[in-house]
Amino acid sequence: MATLLGIAGSLRRGSYNAALLRAAAELKPGGTAFDVASLRGIPLYDHDVEEREFPQEVASLKERITRADGLVIVTPEYNHSIPGVLKNTIDWLSRPPKDIKRVFTGKPVFIMGASTGLGGTRFAQAALLPVVAALGMRPWYGKAMYVAQAAQVFDASGELVDKATRERLARIVAEYAAFVDSARRDADRSHAAE
Ligand SMILES: Cc1cc2nc3c(=O)[nH]c(=O)nc-3n(C[C@H](O)[C@H](O)[C@H](O)COP(=O)(O)O)c2cc1C
Repeated sequence: MATLLGIAGSLRRGSYNAALLRAAAELKPGGTAFDVASLRGIPLYDHDVEEREFPQEVASLKERITRADGLVIVTPEYNHSIPGVLKNTIDWLSRPPKDIKRVFTGKPVFIMGASTGLGGTRFAQAALLPVVAALGMRPWYGKAMYVAQAAQVFDASGELVDKATRERLARIVAEYAAFVDSARRDADRSHAAE
């Protein structure tokens, strides 16, 4: 069984990206666990803070990522890139560098996003790739999910109401979960052979 963990890079209460993540978790296939983590409470990265006292919110998110078989990052697009909130969180999660291997290396990651514009976060998703590559993660390119004109796809309560988008999301989550599960089984086999 694959265990997925999702984060959305927006703190906004009515965030379309958080809503997209909730919908993905809701549409997960049977036999998949899909947890959703929040970026709320992650402080701004400051090396002095890191040396003084490592933030509990960051330590706990690191452990949740470590335990998950695959990560889902749902990014908004700000000025054709990823929001500072998301980059700041990833920067914290990459500390200290000796933990990167344990937390991130080889971890499957699926990137998607929703924007109010027509591009559906194409630029932001591309901008996130060098960041996940820096951490040695393994992006899944099986399908792309660019949710454009989000205000027409979600209702006022954040429910994903567009039928075609729901169906596509369900298919993508199922395919990604299958990929993560097979990567997990490969890793288990290679550990057993060591
Ligand atoms: C600072 C800022 C920059 C933005 N830049 C873009 C952009 O480059 N492309 C785009 O499609 N939408 C852009 N938007 C609009 C976002 O797509 C929209 O605010 C979206 O709802 C943000 O995601 P959220 O609903 O998850 O908070 C921008 C919004 C903000 C606040």
